[in-house]
This record gives sequence, C-alpha cells and structure tokens, in this order.
Amino acid sequence: MEHLHAQTAAGHQGPPPPGPTPLFRPLSGALGAETDAIDLSRPLDAATIEAVRTAFREHHLLVIRNQSLDKERMYRFAELFGPIESHMIRLADGSKWDAVHTITNLDAAGNPVAKPFISSNYFWHTDKSFLAEPSLLTMLHAVELPPNGGDTQFADMTKAYDALPDATKRRIDGLKSVQSLEFMRRYTGSAPPTEDDIAAAPPIAHPLVRTHPETGRKSLYIGMYSSHIEGMPEEDGRALLEELLAHATQDRFLYTHTWQLGDLVFWDNRCLLHRAVANFEMGKHRRVLMRIVVKGTVPS
Ligand code: OGA
Ligand code: MN
Repeated sequence: MEHLHAQTAAGHQGPPPPGPTPLFRPLSGALGAETDAIDLSRPLDAATIEAVRTAFREHHLLVIRNQSLDKERMYRFAELFGPIESHMIRLADGSKWDAVHTITNLDAAGNPVAKPFISSNYFWHTDKSFLAEPSLLTMLHAVELPPNGGDTQFADMTKAYDALPDATKRRIDGLKSVQSLEFMRRYTGSAPPTEDDIAAAPPIAHPLVRTHPETGRKSLYIGMYSSHIEGMPEEDGRALLEELLAHATQDRFLYTHTWQLGDLVFWDNRCLLHRAVANFEMGKHRRVLMRIVVKGTVPS
C-alpha cells in the first residue's frame, strides 16, 4: 500500500503503459496469424526471427503482408526454417535460387489457360506426403492475382484430431496409411506418373496420426496421396480415409486465404491440409505465385 501511494503521488495514475504488442494477430478462422510489421527485403534480427518461429509453432500458418521479394530474398527467409527441398519434376539448371519456382495458370507463352497444369492442387493434400521425408513448410508469394478469387484453403489437422470421438481415436491410433503418387494421380484425374517417377518415389506407409516434432500435439495425416490403410482390406481403408477427410475439412477447422498482392504465406504441412480453390475465371485472369518448400523429416 505504501508503495502504491508513493507511485500515485509521483503521478503514475491511470492504466499501465501498454506492453509490447504481439507481432502477429490471429486471422479469422480456425488457424493462422498475420502481420504487416515485418520487412523481408533486409535480413531479420534474431529477436524477430524467434518471434516468427514462435508464432509459426502456435498458428501453423503465417501471412506477412506487403512484401516484394526476389528469388534470393525468398530463399534466404525460407532457409531459416530448414533445408530447402529440391524438385522431382523440374531439373535444377544452375543456381540454388531455382529452388524458388512459380505456381501459375499461364501457359508457356504467358497466357492464362482454363485448365491449370497442376490440377491436383484443387484436392485436399499435404505437400509431398508420398515421400519418405515429406515437406515441412511451403511458402507462397503473391505476384499476380485475379481481380477476385483464386483463394487457398487450409484445414487444421490438430483440431480435427482433437475433435474425434474417443472411440475413433482408439480405432485409428497406431494405424498407417499408404501414400502413393500413383494413387493420387488416379484419384485426382491427373496424368499417370512415369515409371521413373514411381521408381523414385514408391508408395510409402506413414502414421495416420502423426505427432508434431516441436509441439508434441497429435494430428491427422491424410489427404489425396493417402491410398489405403496398411493391413486393412482396401475397401475398409478407403472408407475410413474418406470418413476422416470429411470430418477434418468441416468449416470449423478451416481458414480461407483471400490473397492480396505482396502477401507472403507459409504453412506447416505436418499439421495442416490445404487446397487451391477454383473460384476465378482461370482462362481469363492471371494468377502467379512464387513458391519454395522446406524439407521435413520422417513422420512419427
Ligand atoms: C502448393 C499449393 C495451392 C494454391 O503450392 O503446394 O497447393 O492455392 N498451392 O496455389
Ligand atoms: Mn500443395
């Protein structure tokens, strides 16, 4: 009391001075947070890097607004999260900045086409889950956007797992789903993979429920590459996978990102599903995003 009086006498009245405001504020939806207070055109200081890493662990998806990055700056930022993934399909032809590529609806002549080159992106998935070491994080940077739409949707697999009935959790714990590039191409109506593609990435079993290596939280690890359940009749496995996917992609687990030019968005493939939304005139408008991926570890 003495102390309080002394402070009042010294003129410290009213509400306390505000503390540091958090760098990221939550987005509207089940996951994600955004900031417009970071400039990635220069290297970040250690405190900001730590704040970004912490926010990423907490929110699974971060949006950094109003950036204008070249390949090198995007690469430099992405590599703060781990080793950069190389691509199976496109051969790197020189500098390591080529790990930064583009997602686009443009053809080789630069004209928008109604049917995108990679149409499987419109199905729920987690990047490269058919590999032994699937992608950790994917980063997109909006360079050209249609006047409306061209959204990307995300689903929170930790919340989806937590919301399962206990009986279902008991039923699926310890199961493995077989992830397959060949299955995915069939499932999404895409061209079949070549023999070389299949040889480079044969089907692989991953835990159906995976534990996040940093947070220790469990999440569903499913999506368009999940073909069947190891050791279960194929039909039963398919039914279970479809049931889990329907559960996990309910509105209450989703965030829909409506892009703004300059957005840099990156998400955690270990605990989210995502898909592109075909809600724009693809044959008329341009959509160009720069993309880079951080390689992950064996799921457990
Ligand atoms: C990806 C992806 C979706 C989109 O880059 O891995 O799925 O909206 N993109 O372009
Ligand atoms: Mn993807």
